[in-house]
Amino acid sequence: MTFVPYDRPVRAAFIGLGRIYDLNVRGYLGNPDVEVVALVDPSEDRRAQRQADWPEAATFASAAELASSGLEVDAVEVLLPVPLHADGVVEMLGFGWHVNLQKPMCNDLLDAQRMLDAAKTSDRILRVMDNYLFYEPLRKLKAVAESGEIGQTVGYHMKMVGTGNGGWDVPWSSFEWQMEQMKRGRGIMVFDDGWHKLTTAIWLFGPIREVRAWIGNLAVGPGIDLDAPSTIIWEHENGVRGVWDITIAMDMYLRSDYYTNDERWEVTGSKGFARVNRCTGRGIQQPSLEVYADGEMRSYHALDDDWASSFRDSGRHWLRWLHSGDGPLLWSGDEAVDVLRFALAAYASSASGGIGVDPAKLVQTRGTPAQAASVGFEVRPAHDLAGSLDGLDAGEDVLQAQ
Ligand SMILES: NC(=O)c1ccc[n+]([C@@H]2O[C@H](COP(=O)([O-])OP(=O)(O)OC[C@H]3O[C@@H](n4cnc5c(N)ncnc54)[C@H](O)[C@@H]3O)[C@@H](O)[C@H]2O)c1
Repeated sequence: MTFVPYDRPVRAAFIGLGRIYDLNVRGYLGNPDVEVVALVDPSEDRRAQRQADWPEAATFASAAELASSGLEVDAVEVLLPVPLHADGVVEMLGFGWHVNLQKPMCNDLLDAQRMLDAAKTSDRILRVMDNYLFYEPLRKLKAVAESGEIGQTVGYHMKMVGTGNGGWDVPWSSFEWQMEQMKRGRGIMVFDDGWHKLTTAIWLFGPIREVRAWIGNLAVGPGIDLDAPSTIIWEHENGVRGVWDITIAMDMYLRSDYYTNDERWEVTGSKGFARVNRCTGRGIQQPSLEVYADGEMRSYHALDDDWASSFRDSGRHWLRWLHSGDGPLLWSGDEAVDVLRFALAAYASSASGGIGVDPAKLVQTRGTPAQAASVGFEVRPAHDLAGSLDGLDAGEDVLQAQ
């Protein structure tokens, strides 16, 4: 990669101006590192609405139209529906633009490889943003775990409850592509929102060597299935184990300025614990981080625990990075593939009755078009169970059924 840092404001375009634009835009507003030159969305209403933020920006119905307009663009903020990520990112890297992509990166390993290859061929940067890595209570949790304040980490737990009442409005159009994702076995809880939890796990404690999962299904309406209740457990290469439980509480009201998602992270140390009490929503109205050690509880009352601030700081990190080329991207394309493998290992495990799966050993195959559409994998159990499972196709059949 021959990246040359910018010594002038980066000329950026937003590609996709839907629901999450409202938060991603925070990294760009009032930021001297960037000049927003274009807004792209097929929806005329969205273009008109977002033009109010950037009266000087040109608007286009597609990235191809922008590319052929002759307008100079250095980097794009890609906020597309997930089914469009792979083709869209490959196209935009090909236009010579650096890409900051919303998570999840894409649905399968072959698409991920296509995206990495496109970045290499075009000699452009592909970042897959994860705002959770910029949520101050989580950053502090990581610092506490690494400081030794609660002793040595002996395990941790994440919890996520999706509730049916409260929060901001999500337009039906934002759900439509999520339903398409659900039909492909990439549910909103484990894969879409869950992507963040998987990312934080790898960020906190490093590479994963084994995943076991039991992914449920809750039919909430015609064609609408939610992937809960679900339980996923794993072991990092450093021996630390994590557990994540996901539930839906359909009738629960959750106070939230954003999505109705009640979340917690709790790290257990050999002499204490540290717990982040909330993130997206405002479920537990205590300090967002509490640390217990040696018989004393310490509460953090002054952290910036507005979830939206994590988008602001993630965006600013990217735009600053483009001026320095230094330090971690938080998150690179390669790191995002590790998250994808983690998710796919959970699906493979669940489909195979909960056996341990090593994410590094997932191999995706695309044979016939039908197989490609249903995303087949060879699953090699983490422990040597191949004999009792009679080969590697055990997961493939069930995964294809998803
Ligand atoms: N970080 C987070 O916490 C978080 C939260 C919500 C969504 N997301 C992610 O953000 C992305 C977008 O989600 P959303 O909820 O804003 O979806 P959305 O459906 O509300 O918005 C998508 C927008 O893209 C536009 N679009 C469709 N095709 C296009 C094309 N070819 N070119 C340009 N624009 C096109 C649509 O018209 C729409 O305005 C997804 O990857 C989603 O997973 C992340």
